[in-house]
Amino acid sequence: ALAPKKGVNEMAENINGMLDDIQEVLLSEEKLHEIVERIGAQISEDYKDKKLLMVSILKGSVVFMADLMRAITIPCRIDFMAVSSYGSGTKTSGVVKIIKDLDIPLEGYDLLIVEDILDSGMTLSYILDILKSRGPRSIQICTLFDKPERRQADVKAAYVGTQVPDAFIVGYGLDYDEKYRNLPFVGVLKPEVYGG
Ligand code: IMP
Ligand code: MG
Repeated sequence: ALAPKKGVNEMAENINGMLDDIQEVLLSEEKLHEIVERIGAQISEDYKDKKLLMVSILKGSVVFMADLMRAITIPCRIDFMAVSSYGSGTKTSGVVKIIKDLDIPLEGYDLLIVEDILDSGMTLSYILDILKSRGPRSIQICTLFDKPERRQADVKAAYVGTQVPDAFIVGYGLDYDEKYRNLPFVGVLKPEVYGG
């Protein structure tokens, strides 16, 4: 027999535990859906005569990837890559270590890197160099969120969901300390939660 579903009250308590840490909702589920549908339609048009391979950078882009691939109406393949920044602290060093590499050789594919948020751009700039060296036919970036004023590396995304202010945001895949990824909307985290 199937395990009984969690009670509604129990679920509400769980989400309330997270909601207490949110300062404001930046993007509702409906707004996120609109953004994803728009990008999906654009990609479907742009890649209709290409051999699309979407590469999601774990873990932040998983929720976006899952929705985006279903908003794409042309054949596509997917793969995943996990990287981690070298060094400690909250600042990205720009040098990344590959934790999980792609399963698919890239020759002949039109690669679309799917990211949650483009911040300094250091991580993506490094990943881009590695993947370019493997000889895909083309390579572009699709990011759900962009914080352009924070950019350090010269990285440009072909597809951007929306620009966001320079605040720490969580939900819809984005985390703080591995938490809040399962919130269905995107919110600004209260600074006191991360000691800001
Ligand atoms: P970058 O190398 O500085 O561009 O790092 C981008 C990565 O930092 C993203 O893939 C996120 O994992 C993380 N990140 C940057 N800003 C935020 C944020 O506001 N909320 C959650 N994660 C963030
Ligand atoms: Mg992250």
